[in-house]
Amino acid sequence: FVPPVAGGGGGAQLAGDVDGNPVTLEAWVKGHKDNDRELVQGLKGEPFYLISTPDNIKDFALLSVCTHLGCVVPWNKAANKFCCPCHGSQYDENGKVVRGPAPLSLALAHTTTIEGKLALSPWTEQDFRTGLDPWWK
Ligand code: FES
Repeated sequence: FVPPVAGGGGGAQLAGDVDGNPVTLEAWVKGHKDNDRELVQGLKGEPFYLISTPDNIKDFALLSVCTHLGCVVPWNKAANKFCCPCHGSQYDENGKVVRGPAPLSLALAHTTTIEGKLALSPWTEQDFRTGLDPWWK
């Protein structure tokens, strides 16, 4: 997978597409519509959702791993939620848990670009959805 980028700042790592190749923000925006959520290979190669806006992406990404027992959680566009197929946990559009058995919200990462390519960096500060320290640190 994509190695950490030297001097990327704040531990940022390039995100990879399905084949692990870097993706430019420009290409991403061309290929997505507002509110699309699609997976990239993010920090440590784990699957993170990027969230599209009309001409950019949101400044946070969501780890797609359910906090119950670790299933990958698909985005349900019609319901505007992430719905886990394994035991029915649900997360709102920002990944905040709204229905158990999942005990915690989806983990966050920051999104950024390195020379025009999409990158993620660790989220170590307060979780803006809960006001709590991040459980994933
Ligand atoms: Fe997602 Fe159990 S693994 S609800």
